[in-house]
Amino acid sequence: MWGGRFTDRPDAIMEEINVSIDVDRHLYAQDIAASKAHAAMLAAQGIITANDAKNIGKGLDTILSEIGAGKFTFKRALEDIHMNVESRLAELIGPAAGRLHTARSRNDQVATDFRLYVRDVLDETDAALAAFQQALAERALEQADTVMPGFTHLQTAQPVTFGHHLMAYVEMAARDRGRFQDARKRLNESPLGAAALAGTSFPIDRAATAKKLGFDRPMANSLDAVSDRDFVLETLAAASICAVHLSRFAEEIVIWTSPLVGLIRLSDKFTTGSSIMPQKRNPDAAELVRAKTGRVIGALNGLLIVMKGLPLAYQKDMQEDKQGAMEGFAALSLAIRAMTGMVRDLVPEPDRMRAAAGEGYATATDLADWLVRTLKMPFRDAHHVTGRIVGLAAKAGVALHELPLKEMQAVEPRISKEALAVLSVESSVKSRTSYGGTAPKNVRAQAKAWLKRLEKERKLG
Ligand code: ARG
Repeated sequence: MWGGRFTDRPDAIMEEINVSIDVDRHLYAQDIAASKAHAAMLAAQGIITANDAKNIGKGLDTILSEIGAGKFTFKRALEDIHMNVESRLAELIGPAAGRLHTARSRNDQVATDFRLYVRDVLDETDAALAAFQQALAERALEQADTVMPGFTHLQTAQPVTFGHHLMAYVEMAARDRGRFQDARKRLNESPLGAAALAGTSFPIDRAATAKKLGFDRPMANSLDAVSDRDFVLETLAAASICAVHLSRFAEEIVIWTSPLVGLIRLSDKFTTGSSIMPQKRNPDAAELVRAKTGRVIGALNGLLIVMKGLPLAYQKDMQEDKQGAMEGFAALSLAIRAMTGMVRDLVPEPDRMRAAAGEGYATATDLADWLVRTLKMPFRDAHHVTGRIVGLAAKAGVALHELPLKEMQAVEPRISKEALAVLSVESSVKSRTSYGGTAPKNVRAQAKAWLKRLEKERKLG
């Protein structure tokens, strides 16, 4: 492509370090779409003839179907997707192919292609997260009354409902979707026509190509347009936070399925056995979701390091933006889908959950609250009294509700039979009706509201 200035072929090592076709071939659809928009604009502006533009467009369509059908031979000697496409175009339509590269450069080309690619990733991620939320909200509605232990410090804290726990992840996914949608807004400007770095002397119409490619507007500064990779970084940052959320949920699934805990069972579809221990049911999918987070965060860190300290405008370093990002996006996509599958299929063990919810004096706060409400005791005093009662129960090796009333009254004589009613895990969760609290009726309302919202989103498409 630059034979005019060169007499020697590149060294094999030069070719090896320089080549990007193995990665950027995944941008072929975007590359062809951008080239078609560019050619049509060049013709509309009288920069190339309508006939050349027509032939270029037809040739590009042929290449699109050749690549789609796996009938295209990518050549490493041609370095990247842009030159592979252009060289094939020359074979197909002859010298007119050489006019396509008027008023553009591979710098604005690759920036445009990758923006289009990441935009697709953002849209697919949003849809996958919506499906994840749907599965969570459906299960939450079904499990709104299922009592389980809630934890702080991984110690039994207070009873919650399983539905409430699931709905927490709906909220996290909502924030993730917000971050992806936000990234999309900033991403959606077109670098095309920035050319190598300085713009062009040809009378191009950047607004037209931007519009054709679904961008909101052209990027305002040509130097920025070719050297910006914020759109990848921002998407990877949002992806990293999302992956962290999924890894936390995955870890909970690993804990819950341990025979030591036994709060849920995973379906056979999301479990593996052991080649040596016939009894094993391993939560491999959850463990791998937990681990895939490393790839996503790794991709973010990798690209931050590539970009750090790069002067304007395009530097070849930036070619390293794609591989890690694509792998990170693929890892996140798989993680979201795996979590969705596990959520749909998992089987709670309500008896075990209920028993565990009552272990560890989980309703002690309910007793303290009763003392405050009924005896008008200051909460700090109630906390102290309840602490002594828990101490007695622990010494006797019984649950709170198993401690004889007389023993409680030895600590606080005004405690009556009615106090015992608040010690059940069911009444504990039922009482937590404050906004955002775990009461089954709250959970049902939240789950229904989300299901409605998700349905509305689907209808709007
Ligand atoms: N393959 C290159 C990349 O991914 C395309 C841009 C090449 N530009 C250049 N000036 N060498 O970044």
